[in-house]
Amino acid sequence: MDKARQLIQDADCIVSFSGAGLSAESGIPTFRDAGTDGFWTNYDPQQLATQEGFLADPSLVYRWYSDRRQGIAKVKPNPAHIALAQRTDIINITQNIDDLLHRAGAQQVIHLHGTIKTDKCNSSSCHYTEDVDVNNPPELRRCPMCGDWLRPDVVWFGEMLPMAAWAAAENAIGRCDVLLVIGTSAEVYPAAGLIQMAHSHGARIIIINTEPSAASGLADVELIGKAGEILPDLI
Ligand code: OAD
Repeated sequence: MDKARQLIQDADCIVSFSGAGLSAESGIPTFRDAGTDGFWTNYDPQQLATQEGFLADPSLVYRWYSDRRQGIAKVKPNPAHIALAQRTDIINITQNIDDLLHRAGAQQVIHLHGTIKTDKCNSSSCHYTEDVDVNNPPELRRCPMCGDWLRPDVVWFGEMLPMAAWAAAENAIGRCDVLLVIGTSAEVYPAAGLIQMAHSHGARIIIINTEPSAASGLADVELIGKAGEILPDLI
């Protein structure tokens, strides 16, 4: 912990890269945690979080996201979100689609996989988007602009990441001298590639995770434990 604190104290540009483990202590299940009731244990992601799955049964997939929206509305930021939000100098890159960093007051948040608070038109040639109220999520409905389905503005398997978010993330990674890797299995690309990108230009990598991950080999410091307990103490 002392080495991690020293690296953070000496840093000019700190970036955080987070996954589902950042929101786990708020009560939002992770995807791949061994032995927990992660989303994937109850649902087949290939059936739900894909263009094919959506087109096969739009109302089933939309209902699944409505459940997730109502679940997110009921939870609140945990001490890890709050600690990151209080460090307004930190640029937060997240794979998470929840809005807990925003609700904790974080100023700089880059959502690589989109956000559950917005719907967008499913047609790639239509750019209509609409904010949704996660407390009272709307029903499946058609795009008022082109008549295609509206669907959550999140990245599905096999879909491209939002270009603006990816560019912002690469820019932040290129400038950082410390990268905090928080609560991610680091198994999903291209997002996980950002860790190697930071490491390759000499940034120091501090991992905070309840267990070793695919990124462990890149860590200068690996802190095993809960983000909600480690981060307030660390930053
Ligand atoms: P995973 O479920 O793959 O990994 C969660 C990580 O958090 C694991 O390494 C856990 O050990 C760790 N963890 C769990 N609780 C923690 C806690 N309290 N404190 C610290 N660490 C904790 O979730 P992600 O890595 O986010 O993609 O998954 C990446 C992507 O895979 C997601 O964004 C999603 C999924 O497919 C899309 O939806 C496109």
